[in-house]
Amino acid sequence: MSARQDQAPYLQALCAYAAREPARLHVPGHKGGPGADPQLLEAIGERALSLDIPALTYGVDIGPEPTPFEQAQRLAAQAWGAERAWFLVNGASQGNLAAGLALAHSGDEVVVQRNAHSSAVDALVLSGLRPTFAAPELDPELGIAHCLSAQTLDMALAQTPGAVGAWVVSPTYFGAVADVRALADVAHARGVALIVDEAWGAHMAFHEDLPAHALSLGADLVISSTHKIVGSLTQSAMLHLGARGDELIGEDAVDRAVTLTESTSPSSLLTASLDAARRLAVVSGRELLADTMQTLADTRAQIRAIDGLDVLDERMAGRAGVFAYDPLRLAVDIRGIAASGYELAPMLRELGDINLELVGQNVVVAVFGMGERALPEAARLVDALGQAAMRVGLDPSGASASFAAPPPWGELAMTPREAFLGAQEAVPAAAAAGRVAAESLATYPPGIPNVLPGERLTAETLAYVQRTLELGGSVRGASDRLLRTVRVVTENDPR
Ligand SMILES: Cc1ncc(COP(=O)(O)O)c(C=O)c1O
Repeated sequence: MSARQDQAPYLQALCAYAAREPARLHVPGHKGGPGADPQLLEAIGERALSLDIPALTYGVDIGPEPTPFEQAQRLAAQAWGAERAWFLVNGASQGNLAAGLALAHSGDEVVVQRNAHSSAVDALVLSGLRPTFAAPELDPELGIAHCLSAQTLDMALAQTPGAVGAWVVSPTYFGAVADVRALADVAHARGVALIVDEAWGAHMAFHEDLPAHALSLGADLVISSTHKIVGSLTQSAMLHLGARGDELIGEDAVDRAVTLTESTSPSSLLTASLDAARRLAVVSGRELLADTMQTLADTRAQIRAIDGLDVLDERMAGRAGVFAYDPLRLAVDIRGIAASGYELAPMLRELGDINLELVGQNVVVAVFGMGERALPEAARLVDALGQAAMRVGLDPSGASASFAAPPPWGELAMTPREAFLGAQEAVPAAAAAGRVAAESLATYPPGIPNVLPGERLTAETLAYVQRTLELGGSVRGASDRLLRTVRVVTENDPR
């Protein structure tokens, strides 16, 4: 008999196992509590420890089929409208790694949205795929990157006839949602798969007022960070295969890639949390999301009423690279006050112990969950923002301050894998122009990698990164965060 969406077969089987008080002659060594450090035991409780069991436990992961583990993944596939769903215990990062390795079964070139998450770049290193990067639309006013347009994708695919896939991000950190249907049409017209990193959009399948989710719009493989908004435990995520995923990527290739990137001891707690989060989303998601959206609409209105502050919302839809807006992110436009996001963040911590998800020069982002105590948190944020804005005062020129677009990225002299694994050395940044980078440099704002492993460094890009640091921005990926040195490939390596 197949399980129903109001059941959580994996979680139920796990609880039943723990309740039996079985002889635990298996890992983990804490044995459900007695072997654990007392403070850990007190902090997370004996109940949680008793549910922490290994994979391949009879009646949970193995035994009569479909096992509770299989049933849980099938229910997840059904809930998101996928042909198949894989539970991931190493986050959406694992989903990106698996996507890259699966794609590499079909060929060695791929088109990738330039502001892909660092795990997608890691996937290029692992898979050896040669990327053609496609530039997202830049918002010159806000200084942030939005999504990829269908035209840009089409041009990149035309430039890359050997591409086996197109890899895009939607929604972005800031809530911009791509025109996924148009992107899928473009990819499919050229006979390649569309992979959507929907890490930030796992909730979008559960309320009709939210932008449609990627699987419903023709995506072939979707990376979904269930823990981010839907509320499974941190590090748990899912990978979903779309209707044409088997034909264009291969279900077996994805399955092998998931196995390769996964521990042989996947956490039962993470797995159970995915099963439970799926049930919560199906059974109560619509109601919970409606509540959170209402709270956020009210909160946005209150923030806009504070002098110097504005918010990003559905007014963004229609801008280049923004097809729709995901309201579960609360992105505050702070250009009108005399503080950058980097200065505001510590102030908010001090004023209200407010801890934000992301901070940039012009925009700060608070994340709300599918079903949270949104009201008190939102009220605390509004209160602290009001006090901070008053403290720093207005910046009359801020709202019109425009943002210098980063210089074009350098020529790809070798694949990211060759550069990452090749002989390399750290050289002074001043002497790095013309060399091939062995590491990434991504300045925030706007978070688009300026340099990726395998690309030739230009003086212009190095100066831009340096300038961003001087203005209070940060650089991710660099081994020397102050950019005194850069890791480059030792060329003409005799090995
Ligand atoms: C677009 C995108 N993809 C993937 C990831 C990785 O997700 P996780 O932290 O679940 O591994 C993130 C994390 O922030 C992300 O923003």
